[in-house]
Amino acid sequence: MSAIRADSPRPYFNLSINNEQDVGHAVREARSEAYLAGFDKPNIFKLCTIVAELCRNMLYHAGGGEFVIRHIHSGNRSGIEIEALDHGPGIADISMAMQDHFSTRGTLGIGLPAVKRLSDEMHIESEPGKGTVVKALKWL
Ligand SMILES: Nc1ncnc2c1ncn2[C@@H]1O[C@H](COP(=O)(O)OP(=O)(O)OP(=O)(O)O)[C@@H](O)[C@H]1O
Ligand SMILES: [Mg+2]
Repeated sequence: MSAIRADSPRPYFNLSINNEQDVGHAVREARSEAYLAGFDKPNIFKLCTIVAELCRNMLYHAGGGEFVIRHIHSGNRSGIEIEALDHGPGIADISMAMQDHFSTRGTLGIGLPAVKRLSDEMHIESEPGKGTVVKALKWL
């Protein structure tokens, strides 16, 4: 992460996620930011899926959170970083949560593994009782 400059020329977009409408709003913003950044349709679709999964996780596992989009640059590469930050219960065992079909809600348990597959880089930090931050990056 240290290679990524924080001084992106475009201000980043952020939004509180408190309901399904907010998730839709976040996905629409991600779609237009990805288009502006120059992503092709398949990768715009992947970014939208990442955003929907991370925002729904905040909504259903943490009661809501904050969603951020950043345009990122490193050397001659540019891309988009998605961040999902919440102050929910945290993830007790991240390696379990990253496995296909692990879910504490009785749903499919494929959201986080899908985010990993669809992004170029993914970072999770979580502390039980304090919250969770997930970052997913996609380079052009
Ligand atoms: N923001 C979060 N806060 C707390 N726990 C989380 C968070 N995100 C994920 N988890 C935990 O990680 C598990 C796996 O997440 P994942 O998105 O893969 O599956 P899911 O949300 O349970 O089901 P699906 O996404 O397929 O509907 C969740 O069941 C939950 O226990
Ligand atoms: Mg999920």
